[in-house]
Amino acid sequence: MAEPFKNTPPAAEDKGAMTAENLGAALAGESQASQKYLAFADVADAEGYPNVARLFRAVAYAESTHARNHLSVLGGIGTTSENLKAAWGGETFEITEMYPAYDAVAQMQENKSAQTSIRYALKAEMDHQAIYDSTLKGVEGKNDLDAQAVRVCPICGHTVVGDAPDECPQCGTAGSYFEEF
Ligand SMILES: [Fe+2]
Repeated sequence: MAEPFKNTPPAAEDKGAMTAENLGAALAGESQASQKYLAFADVADAEGYPNVARLFRAVAYAESTHARNHLSVLGGIGTTSENLKAAWGGETFEITEMYPAYDAVAQMQENKSAQTSIRYALKAEMDHQAIYDSTLKGVEGKNDLDAQAVRVCPICGHTVVGDAPDECPQCGTAGSYFEEF
């Protein structure tokens, strides 16, 4: 039987500028494809095509391996402590710069659905920023996160460590629908 996980993602390396740019674009494209296929799988399930849904989920996984490999070559995968810092930094950029600017444009253009989608993301990124911050402090002292479940709203992405609220404070979805990790 084949040894599981015998191979590892291709390692980080010094790259030509063009290759670095190409891999960055490929990382974005593969990540998007993976997300699209997961959304398409849910539609296939809802329309009564469970095996088409399975195909979409399988190809989404394949695309995610490509994204992971590109990220690895780009040097974007570190230790857990480094990864938590990078994750915190990404969330902070989205909270302080990206989504406020996007929201301002959406308001100016009176795009209501875009404002909702942006608000859901911005609020959830604030949850993530706080959770990553406290988790990083633990990991820097070699402590894992508590064993309690992490729960996520399936509509807006509101994220809590521990019990779900009765109702999502951002979008009103019942807490019983939260996904548990
Ligand atoms: Fe929600």
